[in-house]
Amino acid sequence: MRTDIRINCWLNAIIIAVVCSINVAANPRPDKTVNFDQDWRFHLGDVAAAKDTDFDDSQWRQLNLPHDWSIEGQFDENNPAGTGGGALPGGLGWYRKTFSVPAGAKGKLVFIEFDGVYRNSEVWINGQYLGKRPYGYSSFQYELTPFLKYGSPNNVIAVKVDNAQQPNSRWYSGSGIYRNVWLTTIDKLHVDQWGTYVTTPAVSEQSANVAIVTRVRNESANRAPVSLANIIYDANGREVARAVEKNIFADAGQVEVRQTIAVAHPALWSDERPYLYKVVSELQQNGRTVDRYETPLGIRTFVFDIDKGFLLNGKPVKIRGTCNHHDLGALGAAINTRALERQLEMLKAMGANGLRTSHNPPAPELLDLADRMGFIVMDEAFDVWKQEKTKFDYHLDWDQWHRRDLEDMVLRDRNHPSIFIWSIGNEVAEQWTENPAAGQIGKELSEIVRGLDKTRPVTSACNNVSEQNTSIASGGLDLVGTNYQHNKIPEFQKMFPGRPIIGTETTSALQTRNSYDMPSDKIRRWPERWDLPLKDGNKDYSCSAYENCSTPWGSTHEETWKIVKKYPFFSGMYIWTGWDYLGEPTPYPWPAVSSYFGIIDLAGFPKDSYYMYQSEWTNKPVLHLFPHWNWKPGDEVDVWAYYNDADDVELFLNGKSLSVKRKQGDDLHVQWRVPFAAGTLRAVSHKNGRVILTDEVRTAGAPAKIILSADRSSIKADGTDLSFVTVKVVDRDGTLVPRADNLITFELNGPGAIAGVDNGSEISHESFKANHRQAFHGMALAIVQSKGKGGRINLQATAAGLAPASIAIEAR
Ligand code: GAL
Repeated sequence: MRTDIRINCWLNAIIIAVVCSINVAANPRPDKTVNFDQDWRFHLGDVAAAKDTDFDDSQWRQLNLPHDWSIEGQFDENNPAGTGGGALPGGLGWYRKTFSVPAGAKGKLVFIEFDGVYRNSEVWINGQYLGKRPYGYSSFQYELTPFLKYGSPNNVIAVKVDNAQQPNSRWYSGSGIYRNVWLTTIDKLHVDQWGTYVTTPAVSEQSANVAIVTRVRNESANRAPVSLANIIYDANGREVARAVEKNIFADAGQVEVRQTIAVAHPALWSDERPYLYKVVSELQQNGRTVDRYETPLGIRTFVFDIDKGFLLNGKPVKIRGTCNHHDLGALGAAINTRALERQLEMLKAMGANGLRTSHNPPAPELLDLADRMGFIVMDEAFDVWKQEKTKFDYHLDWDQWHRRDLEDMVLRDRNHPSIFIWSIGNEVAEQWTENPAAGQIGKELSEIVRGLDKTRPVTSACNNVSEQNTSIASGGLDLVGTNYQHNKIPEFQKMFPGRPIIGTETTSALQTRNSYDMPSDKIRRWPERWDLPLKDGNKDYSCSAYENCSTPWGSTHEETWKIVKKYPFFSGMYIWTGWDYLGEPTPYPWPAVSSYFGIIDLAGFPKDSYYMYQSEWTNKPVLHLFPHWNWKPGDEVDVWAYYNDADDVELFLNGKSLSVKRKQGDDLHVQWRVPFAAGTLRAVSHKNGRVILTDEVRTAGAPAKIILSADRSSIKADGTDLSFVTVKVVDRDGTLVPRADNLITFELNGPGAIAGVDNGSEISHESFKANHRQAFHGMALAIVQSKGKGGRINLQATAAGLAPASIAIEAR
């Protein structure tokens, strides 16, 4: 019996060829939409008159969007967001932009589009109120047409952003116009906002049927015949097929045109080969192309099977995903495509193929990157419904806004081939309640989603993993989403018979990079008692990066993965989390301000578990030896190695073999207990008697110099592109000094700026915007951003008592 969901999908979406490392967002009309991020004025604080056209903002700060004012603030225990919200300030701010509208725009329609404003934005154009949008993660647009001064340089858009009521989030939200803004000028005859919907109802090796619904509006008096062509291009830009519909309008108003196009021998989209087509919708009138609207297309089939788990194009694929919040570490919430791309690149290199946009609709750029890079995305709408989690959160807006926000997420995102699951909520309070009306909310939300897209299953991330869960019991969910409770995984199939199941959230291990508590096999399940870390925690507020520290509701990385990999019916998992994020510094209170959950720390430096996943999830040969080799004489040190593609690993201390070990049963690492002696510890992996890889750690001497390395030494001179420069404090032989905490000062020359600094410490209160940072466990990060000009950027790093270093980055 197979009652699971069968989904033949492809989708399309708001297009954008996100050209690698350009901070340009999803945009279906590259020729008619301009980026509207430059030259805004900003003021932190309320000024009622700021909405008026003639208000004098000349004394306000000038900046370019995207902008997050919270990340510029000081950490303070008393900031009302609390440490959960990252202990950074919220507040209320105003943005204004004065801009020209050409006389030629008269007779056209003009829209302003905001990808996201956190939160409670209100917008005025030339003093005229346009509206309010409370939810900080929704994308929205306003029409400006009737209020503009055509042929004038003095049009003023004013935006009030109110993030003063705190706490309103369980994680760091950021504040401000933190995503991109766009201005679109189009004809009265045009494709509507989010006006295409593309599905692939039938896919085989020979052919795919691509069904295209195009919503076209005509607000002009011109009654000349209008034709619509939908043209499919392959990844090389070659036309593959087209459908033309003539005379689509009898009258003014709106029509929906349905066309089906066959694509012969389609190249399928998959996580391993994310092949993208493009659909271009062209409106013609009087021989002129009046509108051109682009939608990406990926052709694929998928099924969540009750026994075999997730099948992509007929093949079982375990979803190896991570959950991530939206902040970009030192850059805060301000979206930057390259920073996001770096996050995803590192997750892909680890072998991850899935992303969950916990717990809110993401920036459009994330979905463009996921389409292009091959991620299986769970797009999530809400962290709360009607019942609050924090005092001023979205529950206050629920009644008035939930339908609109959910509909807009699906309409905006439903064409992305990377989206495979809609999530209507995360651990909402309603799942626990006896009240049957609570179950109805889940049902209502699922129906809203299905009304707009039936090609993907609806789930909810449930930590009440039981038949009594009102969301599960209401029958509203297509896919049972379980959070945690890894030990119950073997029973899930019996608990939820006939229903496909996925781990919407797993693990919640706690780790600080390069921090180790012995013995490594004694698991500290923070906290068996919740107050334990305060009484018995590490004095430096660290968590051990062996597999021996986790939350009580979660597990270590190894514990959950061992079980998930064993059960084919379990479609996969989204680990909490891929990257560390600001806020929620479980298990510690202040001074901790950022999370310990990431497999990668806040600065982008992998913790050791990264290599466990890489050894399991990729074909890349891996041998990773840890910990560092700076201990006290007499210390018994647990030495671990993650490896793959080898029979065994031999460990040598100062040239002397300590023994050969191999993983037994379901082991994911090998371990030795070694009495410390200074020198070199070397691991060698073998296969069939041949050496495959070696890795070593050495005892470091005193800090002597700085080493800099950049992830990219050439960046675009577009004012947004970034180079991430890693700083290492090393001894005179070049060995990383694992406890070095030297204060590093940066100086930059040339056409660039330091966009942020970090070190991955969860307790640092140094400013992310300073030109200096203490090293943390020997490392720090400087993020260099281009300005609008080409040339050589030089970054110098100095520290008292250390030889300095510098690095050149070309902006082109
Ligand atoms: C989950 C929750 C996440 C995060 C995590 C920390 O229960 O869904 O948002 O709080 O716990 O372990």
